[in-house]
Parts: sequence; C-alpha cells; structure tokens
Amino acid sequence: MALLEWTDKMSVGIDTIDADHKKLLSLVNELHSVVRKKESPDTVGRVLRDLMAYADYHFEAEEQLLRLIRYPDLDRHKEIHGKLKDQVAALEERYRDDPKKGSVRMFDFLSDWLMRHILGEDMKYKALLLEKLGKNAQK
Ligand SMILES: [Fe+2]
Ligand SMILES: [Fe+2]
Repeated sequence: MALLEWTDKMSVGIDTIDADHKKLLSLVNELHSVVRKKESPDTVGRVLRDLMAYADYHFEAEEQLLRLIRYPDLDRHKEIHGKLKDQVAALEERYRDDPKKGSVRMFDFLSDWLMRHILGEDMKYKALLLEKLGKNAQK
C-alpha cells in the first residue's frame, strides 16, 4: 500500500480540522515506515498509541464542532468514531499475537479507514460547516 498523501479534495473547509487530518495521515505513514523497517513490536506499538491518542483528540474536537453547528447526523458520526477505537483495539490484540501479519493488516486497515472516513463521512458536514461559520472558515 502506498503512502497517504494530502490533496485539496480532502479539505473540509476549516484549517484546524484539515491540520488534524494531515497530522493523522502523517502518523499512519509513520506506522507504515516502522512496519516496513521491521522495527520492534514496542516501537510499532508506540506509533500506534500516538496515532490513536491523536485520533481521540481529533474525534473529540470534531464532535464538539459538529455539536456547535448542530450537525443533524452527529450521533451516527460519533458512533463511527467510537467503532474505530474498538476495531483498532482488536487489531492491536491480533498484532500482539502475530506482529508480522498483524502490523501489515493494521496499516492497510488504518490507511483505508482514514481516507474513506475523511472523503466520505467528514465531507458530509462540510457544507453545513461553511454555511454556519461563514467566510472565516474558507481562508
Ligand atoms: Fe470524523
Ligand atoms: Fe475527521
């Protein structure tokens, strides 16, 4: 799987959220790099924990923003965020059992999930976000 690259079509129209998404992309790429270099399970585990800590922070910030703009589909969006945490916990367990297979699977899953989530789910709130926040959000 190729490294993830940011493109303008991934922008949700607000700098802070775009910056979070870029950071998440770079953490997934870092995971790819430590897996490829066959770093120790401890190192891979550390990158995964960093990634999930940042994802936690981002989900919280994004949900707060969606609450602020009264996004009608917030509950469903929160559910999707919550489900990822469970899925990653399961993947991490599998990784502990079999680091070699588990780490590749983890990277494939996370890169696919992140791209699909930003381009699919996050993009759904873009129009409302821009409408509620007005021109300030479009800089
Ligand atoms: Fe999201
Ligand atoms: Fe997001």
